[in-house]
Amino acid sequence: MSTRYEQTLHRARTDPEGFWAEAAEAISWHRRWDRVLDDSNPPFYRWFAGAEVNTCYNAVDRHVEAGRGDQPALIHDSPVTGTKRILSYSDLREQTARLAGVLRGLHVETGDRVLIYMPMVPEAAVAMLACARIGAIHSVVFGGFAAGELATRIEDARPKVVLAASCGIETARIVEYKPLLDEAIAMSAHKPVATVMLQRPQHTAELGSDDRDWHDAMAAAEAVDCVPVQATDPLYILYTSGTTGVPKGVVRDNGGHLVALDWSMGNVYGVSPGEVYWAASDIGWVVGHSYIVYAPLIHGCTTVLYEGKPVGTPDASAFWRVISEHNVSALFTAPTAFRAIKREDPRGELIGKFDPSCLRTLFLAGERADPDTVQWAEDKLGVPVIDHWWQTETGWAIAANCVGLGALPVKHGSPTKAVPGYDVRILEHDDGAAGGSRELPPGETGAIALRLPLPPGCLPTLWKNDDGYVDSYLSEFEGYYQTGDAGYVDQDGYLYIMSRTDDLINVAGHRLSTGGMEEILASHRDVAECAVIGVADSLKGQVPLGLVVLYAGSARGEAEIVPELVQIVRDQLGPVASFKVAAVVDRLPKTRSGKVLRGTMRRIADGVPYTVPATIDDPAILDEIEQTLGQIGYPRHSP
Ligand code: COA
Ligand code: AMP
Repeated sequence: MSTRYEQTLHRARTDPEGFWAEAAEAISWHRRWDRVLDDSNPPFYRWFAGAEVNTCYNAVDRHVEAGRGDQPALIHDSPVTGTKRILSYSDLREQTARLAGVLRGLHVETGDRVLIYMPMVPEAAVAMLACARIGAIHSVVFGGFAAGELATRIEDARPKVVLAASCGIETARIVEYKPLLDEAIAMSAHKPVATVMLQRPQHTAELGSDDRDWHDAMAAAEAVDCVPVQATDPLYILYTSGTTGVPKGVVRDNGGHLVALDWSMGNVYGVSPGEVYWAASDIGWVVGHSYIVYAPLIHGCTTVLYEGKPVGTPDASAFWRVISEHNVSALFTAPTAFRAIKREDPRGELIGKFDPSCLRTLFLAGERADPDTVQWAEDKLGVPVIDHWWQTETGWAIAANCVGLGALPVKHGSPTKAVPGYDVRILEHDDGAAGGSRELPPGETGAIALRLPLPPGCLPTLWKNDDGYVDSYLSEFEGYYQTGDAGYVDQDGYLYIMSRTDDLINVAGHRLSTGGMEEILASHRDVAECAVIGVADSLKGQVPLGLVVLYAGSARGEAEIVPELVQIVRDQLGPVASFKVAAVVDRLPKTRSGKVLRGTMRRIADGVPYTVPATIDDPAILDEIEQTLGQIGYPRHSP
């Protein structure tokens, strides 16, 4: 007899339109769809074509109308400011409608873009929902990026208005947002017409002539109702690292996103309306978009917006306090958070200070979940620890152990199996075969690809860049979306994610491009050539390491240049890059055709056995690299 998971997977694969139409019944539509799946223009597929809907209505208003206005919608827990605030669904509707009125007053119309540059405060969620309410397209930018990154996003999205806060708080450091924003706007050719600034008590920003004070603007604004938009209209753009320094604008639609996220809450996470769900991430990342703001609210849960770190605010018991105090049923975070906690409190003694027995399941994603950390969390918390795999582009899990469909046995190191709706294949190039690809048998590692069409909720395209969408994701294997991850499926059908096939790295669950960092290093006047590789790190999973070759005539040495390199990456990309280590080498190892052997250098740094590539130009360079890396302490630990 097949399991409920297998039956659901089969149904979604053989009758996707019937399956998703049924899931769509959980959503309130202004107008129902003409077609569940519009496949008239492949490889561009659109879900719920012809339907009209409003995401904010589904996330907020309908719960109030259903009599749940007093239920907490959002709990802001902020150890860095020593404050806690609860917004009921009624409060959230009131604030969202008013902020929508502020945007209207600034002539923001359906389809206009609004940039949101805010820390983890409730107003950030209000900002996203207010945009959705009037059909404006938001683009949230993470606070840990530098002004240049913000400028690139302003230039590409061309926002009419910016919604910002005066500062973020990085435990002991106040990050002033206004100077970064001013610098970014000065760098960008596009100029937003106004900024609405939330002044936080920790720092007051000086307002310019185009700036409005958030509270004054709210007090003067009229509440505005939800505006129906096309299900296929964009809800947001979220920029994510690509293989160059230029980020990709991932587009999310309204209808498919609503249906997929609502379905995922019950079936992937096993959570019911009214329960408390906590994604310990940041609204600047996709996890924050999907599982701090949209999914829990669409599903009628209470979401926790946590402003702080897992350790040091005040100590490694912060997560246990939040879970027990707010009665959290499901926690979703990145493995790095648990590595940080485990490092501070290896025996888990601080757990006993609180009673986190309300927690049913811990979900991990964003980077590889190392078995040691998973085992530690299982032992200490006594709940299932579910690794699941997805990416900014998909917006929700591609592979998971769907606890709502009946949990499968856990295998450490695997995010289990494809989530219903996804058709995951392991491919390699085969020029002789139709479509130029062949599927690999169990146990063999290849490119992980998803058969088209992707399910609802996944990106329909890149912002104003259909060609880039096809080039980046659809051109490698005909009929498939290539995820950029490599891995294999075992004999039991469990998926294993092994590495990226491109130059993206994952630092503390944050996705970064080493290519982007190389562009910055190459701009330094003494650097002739460089390579950035992601090396293993016991806390952050990976951290970047730079290797630079200086110009022959460079009069200055490593001691002077390396701190400058660290600083320019911090200034141009942002502190979140965690770029702290670089070394000067005489030359970089290359193939005879001039390709830098980054993979080989990474293996040397990680202390992993490697074979000298047959195509190498001069094998002696590898000894030099080993020596240099040895001098700066690599390998740092056993991988
Ligand atoms: N605004 C400004 N600066 C920020 C920032 C923000 N929103 N977020 C991070 N930074 C800064 C940090 O202060 C740090 O600066 P520093 O070099 O001066 O110390 C730098 O960027 C690197 O940040 P991070 O990699 O997060 O390191 P950390 O030491 O501050 O914290 C962890 C490490 C593991 C505790 C933290 O990354 C964490 O809790 N991660 C798990 C949850 C998560 O956010 N996952 C991501 C998506 S699921
Ligand atoms: P992001 O778009 O920032 O969410 O990063 C997505 C990438 O993170 C994926 O393509 C993977 O490389 C990696 N990733 C996310 N979740 C997992 C996981 N559970 N296991 C291994 N890698 C993961």
